[in-house]
Amino acid sequence: MRTDTGRIIHLADYRPTDFVLERVDLTFELDPEATKVEARLIFHRRDGVDPAAPLVLDGDELTLSGLLFDQMEMAPERYTATPDALVVRDLPETSPFELTITTIINPQANSQLMGLYRSSGIYCTQCEAEGFRRITYFPDRPDVLAPYTITIIADKAANPLLLSNGNYLGGGNFDEGRHFAAWFDPHPKPAYLFALVAGDLGVVEDKFTTMSGREVALKIYVEHGKESRAAYAMDALKRSMKWDEEVFGREYDLDIFMIVAVSDFNMGAMENKGLNVFNDKYVLADPETATDADYANIEAIIAHEYFHNWTGNRITCRDWFQLCLKEGLTVFRDHEFSADQRSRPVKRIAEVRHLRSEQFPEDAGPLAHPVRPDKYREINNFYTTTVYEKGSEVTRMIATILGRDRFKKGMDLYFERHDGEAATVEDFVRCFEDASGRDLGQFSLWYNQAGTPHVTVTADYDAAAKTLTLEIGQTVPPTPGQAHKKPMHIPLDLALVLEDGTIAVPASVDGAEMTGSVLHLKEARHTVTFTGIPSRPALSLNRSFSAPIVVRYDQKPADLALIARHETDLFSRWQAITDLALPALKDAALAARKGEAIQIDVTFADALLAVAADPALEPAFRAQALALPSEADIARELGGDNDPDAIHAGREAVLTAIARAGADAFRTLCDTMTAEGAYSPDAASAGRRALRNAALLYRTIAEDTPALAAEAFAKADNMTDLAQALTVLAHRFPEAPETHAALSAFEARFAENALVIDKWFQIQATIPGEGALARVMRLKENRHFNENNPNRVRSLVGAFVFSNPTGFNRADGAGYRFLAEEILRIDAKNPQLAARLLTSMRSWRQLEPGRAELARAALVRVEREVLSNDVRDIVDRTLKG
Ligand code: PHE
Ligand code: ZN
Repeated sequence: MRTDTGRIIHLADYRPTDFVLERVDLTFELDPEATKVEARLIFHRRDGVDPAAPLVLDGDELTLSGLLFDQMEMAPERYTATPDALVVRDLPETSPFELTITTIINPQANSQLMGLYRSSGIYCTQCEAEGFRRITYFPDRPDVLAPYTITIIADKAANPLLLSNGNYLGGGNFDEGRHFAAWFDPHPKPAYLFALVAGDLGVVEDKFTTMSGREVALKIYVEHGKESRAAYAMDALKRSMKWDEEVFGREYDLDIFMIVAVSDFNMGAMENKGLNVFNDKYVLADPETATDADYANIEAIIAHEYFHNWTGNRITCRDWFQLCLKEGLTVFRDHEFSADQRSRPVKRIAEVRHLRSEQFPEDAGPLAHPVRPDKYREINNFYTTTVYEKGSEVTRMIATILGRDRFKKGMDLYFERHDGEAATVEDFVRCFEDASGRDLGQFSLWYNQAGTPHVTVTADYDAAAKTLTLEIGQTVPPTPGQAHKKPMHIPLDLALVLEDGTIAVPASVDGAEMTGSVLHLKEARHTVTFTGIPSRPALSLNRSFSAPIVVRYDQKPADLALIARHETDLFSRWQAITDLALPALKDAALAARKGEAIQIDVTFADALLAVAADPALEPAFRAQALALPSEADIARELGGDNDPDAIHAGREAVLTAIARAGADAFRTLCDTMTAEGAYSPDAASAGRRALRNAALLYRTIAEDTPALAAEAFAKADNMTDLAQALTVLAHRFPEAPETHAALSAFEARFAENALVIDKWFQIQATIPGEGALARVMRLKENRHFNENNPNRVRSLVGAFVFSNPTGFNRADGAGYRFLAEEILRIDAKNPQLAARLLTSMRSWRQLEPGRAELARAALVRVEREVLSNDVRDIVDRTLKG
């Protein structure tokens, strides 16, 4: 464990290093338990730095086994080595010098999966954010950039492959069956982008010719025998490379681009220069084992990591406070890519659903923090949905405010001005100001103020004057450490939809700046008047989700229905349908909470069913309309004193009412949305499957029998249909013989495929109701479960705590006690994984008092017994905030 536990790092304390690192030369002699790392580092003292200042290098659980200064043994009184630092004194005033640092590390014993570790017999590394310091003593911070030369020496039979960043220099054989390979990465980079992989893997190869005509070798390495499952990833990679050239003008810059899939990985994937390392879940796919969602994720994550080559690697972050500079921007880029490859409105709906279900609760709870935080205790805990997804939304708003062309100019300026540098959010924003002449000073509050802004609107139409007046107010709720907020610059895209479905074009707008259809809110209150409006319009607000805000506007159901029918912005049509359904979902939950009979007036469902049956609309969109807000969404809307059982019961009642009202339509959809020919993962085919499966769910609810899903399970010729049928069976009829048969058949058929068994764990972990906990505990004993593998833990324990509201939030608190046990045990091996699981408690204060008290007690226990800085940081903030 690190010994700096508890220290808080502040953005305001940033200062450059005293020494400049010129070059890095690393030699690894790989051994499972005793890998020797020799680091030759050339430094010089920065101009103006105190000549007596020592060089301080970071370490984490290291032991020094040798130190040379300019090739000579260093006198012991000139340095101090501890597990977490190497301090070297009496260094030259100006001239460059070389340190040769030798450390011996144990990859086999590395269960944190940070630094150099072993995964299924493969050596691999993970260095972001602070993993490099577990390999050697180093100035391990993102503003220290240098070119790297790497030599890897290993047993040849066990490790025919020796990979690192950059271009291959050469290799050869050594004594005792060993061999070596050397790599050189000419692009200066920070240590967090270093990677090494060694072992025996299969490869899929291809090539790509860049826009300037250079040929790049593409290689994806996977376990032997899994090569055919990497074909889609390769295709996604080539499309990403092409798209980045066409849309952002960015070309790849090395002779080779490699991806390695590993089965033990804490996150999704990592953008190491020229050598991305992936969680195999985001590489491997074929129709028999991957769902449509898996394919879409693979495409997005391959793109994301590739796009980091320019946004993250060529231009990196000055310090970890600037994390959104690479992550928010790169998420924005991968969203745009997926929107271009698939359906833009459907992609936008999925993004917003995700933002609302993950980021909004974070922003409204004890772990809320700005997109660019100004302090942290453990940086691993800031790879959050706020930094990533809200960070992407902030970039999107810049594009909305500036317009497409000026946004592009700003991006070009950013690439030109900061290539090869470690930049800040201010540098980024300045490029858009300089390229557009627009002041983004107030806008920059989006980076610094946490919390989701609430925008409240009232409307008054004057028929005689033909004017519409809007009173618009904004507030940003208090968040930990930020009691008072300033008004934000909110770009609010809106449309005035007239009774005949057309969109009114106002003669004039007064009270706020308007560019195109975007109203710029900058004050706490605006009175905005539109003139020349022929009749009372319905208000379509926040079109395409132009800002990540909550809009409060009391819209008449008839107006929502009008928008659901006529808006040209498809996102807004979907939003209107959701807004029509929400009151029914909330009322039903409240009735269940009071123990009253649930009464449902299903007239709201007319608009939804009309969209579902409309052949003019794409099936994926129609499926989105049928997917009601989740139980977590309803909990958020209710805003406190929540009883997950009541929310579940209310939602079930609404689903049943819709299922009955739309019985005919759902039957037709099941019959007509059938596959044409062999399975293809393309977006249009996936949309048809999504619509048919949504209809199948409603039919099953209406008919209340496992027969339909059992039949679908038997007939399925792809994993999307198979997993969906199994989910319906398990979640709706957990004790039915059909369900038991299907679960056993699935387990037997996919016993050799851990990623598919993960789906089996996840489906069972999310079966609603209080029986879930016993089921999860039983599954932990299953021979396929492995507590050391993050994917297994996330599929079983993670799915239970994050995605099973009734099962986890059992009224007797047993779910919380279980989580506390899990956290404490997992923390001893893998603190990052444990800390992330614990964020499932972030909304505990929204629970009704009985559950909230039990949740608090479990958190207090974790706080008392926790070991790691990672978990301690999360538990302290969760209890305090
Ligand atoms: N930087 C990775 C990404 O592309 C995420 C990551 C962070 C991976 C930390 C590993 C460790 O989003
Ligand atoms: Zn990223």
